[in-house]
Amino acid sequence: MQIQFPSSFLWGAAISSYQCEGRNFNTDWHRWEKAKGLDRAGWACDHYRLFEKDFYLAKSLNLNSFRLSIEWARVCPVFVEFSQEALDHYSEVIDVLHQKGLKPVVTLHHFTNPTWFIDRGGWLNSKNIDYFIAYLKRVVELLKEKVEYWIIFNEPLVYIYNGFIRGIWPPGVKSVKEAKKVLDNIVQAYLIGYKEIKRIYETISIPVQISLAKHMRVFSGCPDSNFALNSLSAFLRNKYFNFWIVEYLNKKRSLDFLALNYYCKEYTRFKGLIGAECRHAKHRERKNDLGWDIHPKGFYNILLKLKKFNLPIIITENGTAETKDSLYEDYLRQHLKHLAKAILKGVDIKGYFWWSLLDNFEWDKGFKYRFGLIEVAYDSMVRRIKPFAYVYAQVCKENKIEV
Ligand code: BGC
Repeated sequence: MQIQFPSSFLWGAAISSYQCEGRNFNTDWHRWEKAKGLDRAGWACDHYRLFEKDFYLAKSLNLNSFRLSIEWARVCPVFVEFSQEALDHYSEVIDVLHQKGLKPVVTLHHFTNPTWFIDRGGWLNSKNIDYFIAYLKRVVELLKEKVEYWIIFNEPLVYIYNGFIRGIWPPGVKSVKEAKKVLDNIVQAYLIGYKEIKRIYETISIPVQISLAKHMRVFSGCPDSNFALNSLSAFLRNKYFNFWIVEYLNKKRSLDFLALNYYCKEYTRFKGLIGAECRHAKHRERKNDLGWDIHPKGFYNILLKLKKFNLPIIITENGTAETKDSLYEDYLRQHLKHLAKAILKGVDIKGYFWWSLLDNFEWDKGFKYRFGLIEVAYDSMVRRIKPFAYVYAQVCKENKIEV
């Protein structure tokens, strides 16, 4: 059977500034890599200089939209100063996207912060929200005529979990109490940012859609001797990690659409109330290069659960890291099939973005894991389109899929 996607469907790929641009030296991540002796992002994919070429490649794959993030530490490299060079750069980037027929979806915060912000207490201090809002206003004012879709934060709960509970990302805090403070401040910043963007667009006749990108997983209790308690942790993770923030912001009427990042299933084991990921059990699912449990049916299940919010949905990230091309292709086909089935069930899905356009810097894991439609040879910066990307290109062109 063939399933046709809606005519205005957004077919895209996503990237983030720190993972691709290169030389983002004023960020907390740059400092963290040095302090912890991790792989350095360094030049990354040199996308800051090669963006035009990358957008050309994206267009050659029949994409009609593109998700990227703005690097706050470039726009504000030092305390309360804006860089005109960086603002001009991002303005040009968005112009080039339009010239290539790629609709921009712009993220304002994708895990990284300026070092001066962190030195003043970062997200732990509610007084610092104003700095983020000043940056947001400046960027939105600059790009308002050219951007319809804004993502204020990418995966705030992943950021908080890794940076303030597990302590494996900057600032390396391990405290539930501090994590709660950061959550309150980020939610606050989102709500203020949402109102500011709406206010800025009131003066022009361009529509605006605002959201945050929410990472969701299918949680299931780890099937070991502690299954009952593991299942309780899985239940709590589903309730709080997956749904709490979406429910809260939706009640406040501050989400114009749902932006879903979906990758895999997670088996959870009981470890205090928060629980922890359990990687060692004998699970049925195929594992990708990172050991993630691949579960396309879960994508469908989550999409159906999101129906109750009665909001349009955009898949702002979906993807995998593999070593064999056939495994990327299988992942892509399976997930698109379940996406199409969800559409048939009446879920209002407006777009799909593969993570990522390019093989890039995978945070604490460095450059080893490859999510890209396009391979990057980091020594020469030469790009090569991977075979499975042509399968994606065909779907984007035909706007339909065989299921
Ligand atoms: C993040 C990306 C990351 C990807 C793969 C998402 O959670 O937004 O920055 O590279 O997952 O791990």
